[in-house]
Amino acid sequence: MRHFDFKDGEMYAEDVPLSQIAAAVGTPVYVYSTATFERHYKVFSEVFSDVEALVAYSVKANSNIAVLATLAKMGCGADVVSGGELIRALTAGIPAEKIVFSGVGKTVEEMRLALSSGIRIFNVESLQELDALNRTALDMGVVAPIAFRVNPDISAGGHEKISTGKAENKFGIAWHSAEEAYARAAAMDGIRIDGVDVHIGSQIDSLDPFRRTIDKVGDLIGRLRSAGHTIKSFDIGGGLGIPYGNNAKIPPHPSDYGAMVKEATKDLDVELIFEPGRMVSGNSGVLLSRVIYAKATGTRNFLILDAAMNDLIRPALYDAYHDIEAVRAPGADFDETLYDVVGPVCETGDTFARSRALPPMSDGDLVVFHTAGAYGAAQASQYNTRPLVPEVMVNGEHYEVIRERPTVEDILKTERLPSWLA
Ligand code: LLP
Repeated sequence: MRHFDFKDGEMYAEDVPLSQIAAAVGTPVYVYSTATFERHYKVFSEVFSDVEALVAYSVKANSNIAVLATLAKMGCGADVVSGGELIRALTAGIPAEKIVFSGVGKTVEEMRLALSSGIRIFNVESLQELDALNRTALDMGVVAPIAFRVNPDISAGGHEKISTGKAENKFGIAWHSAEEAYARAAAMDGIRIDGVDVHIGSQIDSLDPFRRTIDKVGDLIGRLRSAGHTIKSFDIGGGLGIPYGNNAKIPPHPSDYGAMVKEATKDLDVELIFEPGRMVSGNSGVLLSRVIYAKATGTRNFLILDAAMNDLIRPALYDAYHDIEAVRAPGADFDETLYDVVGPVCETGDTFARSRALPPMSDGDLVVFHTAGAYGAAQASQYNTRPLVPEVMVNGEHYEVIRERPTVEDILKTERLPSWLA
């Protein structure tokens, strides 16, 4: 069941008409569906309910505390990559023992925060980080549980900017030095080895790279155990793709992914950890925007929206496709028009779609971008001094603002004239 769908000729989020949210909160605005978050988390987690597994939602995909609290209530953990994300996860009620800390550049300050919160595990990505973590833990009189994020040198991911598992990427411990890294960690008093971690990329549309990675890491786990290390957990990362509504290959369903993972890991005797981001939040949100001007230049029809690349950067950054629909259902008979859908920012890259077939649109009409719940609001900026886009959570017939739209005064409040200009 789709929770963003047409009723009585207009699009709703669950039981709330999007036009009502637009009128009350203004546009552009992200609108999320509680029911969709819940369903996606369930679809993923239920596949693994018969094995030992922790689903640690990748906070970076959509980090609003209301989203995290919605997932926390269902038992979800968190994968964080900064002190800020860690504070968000804890604030939203995700218990520290369900939080994993990833990222290539953890600072000592962040390590201190994570160690004092008592998080589940650090995914360590370099020997330098290992040394720093050991020193920090010893200094605090605690022991840091770790996995090494190993780089399996396997190609995966929907776009070169989101592929992470190749040797040339900055991520993880080089495959050939993994065993050496474990030997070094085993000799440290501030470190306790717990497991192995990988994350090979994002928007992955086939099971094959996951399978090859698991098999490769499975062999490594065997060698590590033979060398005397205790390996209790295997973090497979995130990366499972989702359908965006275009002609691209449809990624595997979570149940197929789950069946493959369970089969591939059945003899490993490990607790599985997953870090899904997009799979949980992608289809749980839309970006709602209003047409400022429908402008025909003779050669092109432009729909100039009040949303721009600063609100949803995926098309500009990754040439990403998002389905765009009119909020008012088109009548039975209409001729589709080919529109270039753009924002008001002064860059040609501020283009969401070219030659997109839509019903004829006029100034003031509302449109939605589907599948905008992941890496949408989380990657928004205030470029062109456009106040950060607000967010709304819908739950049945209720909705509430979960991040306010700042005013321009709010933005200017953080800026100062230097003394020589004041
Ligand atoms: N774990 C780690 C260590 C990650 O780096 C990521 C994403 C995930 C989990 C979650 O991956 P997911 O399940 O969402 O694919 N901004 C890009 C995506 C960047 C992904 C970065 N890492 C986009 O909009 O497509």
